[in-house]
Amino acid sequence: MSALEDYRSELRGQLADLEAAGMRRRLREPQGLDLCSNDYLGLAAHPHLVESMRAALPGLGAGSTGSRLLRGQHPAFAPLEERLAAFCGREAALLFSTGYAANLGLLPTLAGPDDLVLSDALNHASLIDGLRLSRARKVVYRHQDLDAVEQALRLPRGRGRAFVVTESVFGMEGDLTPLEELADLCDAHGGLLVVDEAHATGLHGASGSGRVEEQGLQERVLATVHAGGKALGAGGAWVAGPRELVDHLVSRARTFVFSTAPLPVLAAALNAGLDLVAGEPERRREVHRKAAHLRARLASAGIAAEGSSPIVPVRVGANEAAVELQARLAREGFDARAVRPPTVPEGTARLRVTVRHPVSDPDLERFASAAGRLLRALALPVA
Ligand SMILES: Cc1ncc(COP(=O)(O)O)c(C=O)c1O
Repeated sequence: MSALEDYRSELRGQLADLEAAGMRRRLREPQGLDLCSNDYLGLAAHPHLVESMRAALPGLGAGSTGSRLLRGQHPAFAPLEERLAAFCGREAALLFSTGYAANLGLLPTLAGPDDLVLSDALNHASLIDGLRLSRARKVVYRHQDLDAVEQALRLPRGRGRAFVVTESVFGMEGDLTPLEELADLCDAHGGLLVVDEAHATGLHGASGSGRVEEQGLQERVLATVHAGGKALGAGGAWVAGPRELVDHLVSRARTFVFSTAPLPVLAAALNAGLDLVAGEPERRREVHRKAAHLRARLASAGIAAEGSSPIVPVRVGANEAAVELQARLAREGFDARAVRPPTVPEGTARLRVTVRHPVSDPDLERFASAAGRLLRALALPVA
């Protein structure tokens, strides 16, 4: 057998193992009521975004031609970054192609082998991978465990610095991080706080930039990371923070330096998303109200859905059961997706339901009763 045939046969074996463990992923086009996307405010297809992109395209051109440090520094990016910084109440901001790239570039720029990084056990894969690339000493603390953070901040760290890295709204749990308490611990022990606002941007704070703004912590947090492809309905991501840090990222963040710049039209999309977040704050208020409504309806159907954000996890446990529940809900017209390890810890497979502005109360009510009925039919614990 040739090396190629041998390798292909090994891959087929691995796919079969994934299938048997309920871990094989398959791509599926959107169908049914969207209860799973991160388009929380319903902006991804909003005419203002679509029209702004269409109108800007002839002037911007299609491709970005190179990295930002070469010919890719399109004139649309600097004013956008000024606006993003102002939106977040910070000195400066730097645009990346994705949130994954932002975290992968940020963490190794901040921390190195002499440093200590404290990371919440349920942080997103991009934070985990960024941390690995940094080669910093790491303490992975139990989810939201402030005592563990304090203990780790007391560890000797020689010449190195200590960073605490967390999401502000956890993307799979939907719970809110006690940011002020973390900032207090950092202040008390000389730590530097880094907050991933991917699931808070567009949804929290008077301007809508996130929970750091909501809690008035901009001066106490080193850097925040914001996704443009979730509530803002566009794409890309940015890091906001002090000017020196952003200048440093321009020279040092490898995912920025060694990567083709985002398409220039992203600037038009993000500007339009920001217009809508500023001009229509009732959208985010409605999303939070609807999320509370869904949680109440799920509770009436016997389902305890934790968290307090538009991300509503319906815990199932076993991978196969979560996938089966997803399939049965799909047959009834609901697109609520199962999430399985390694996205979530072993044994905690769940439906990750997201509440979005365009979804009506009656649809959420129909979903809650279907989920309760199907969980009972599958003889799965409903609480
Ligand atoms: C907390 C968090 N950070 C970063 C990312 C990555 O962002 P992007 O999808 O823009 O790569 C995600 C995406 O799901 C996320 O949930």
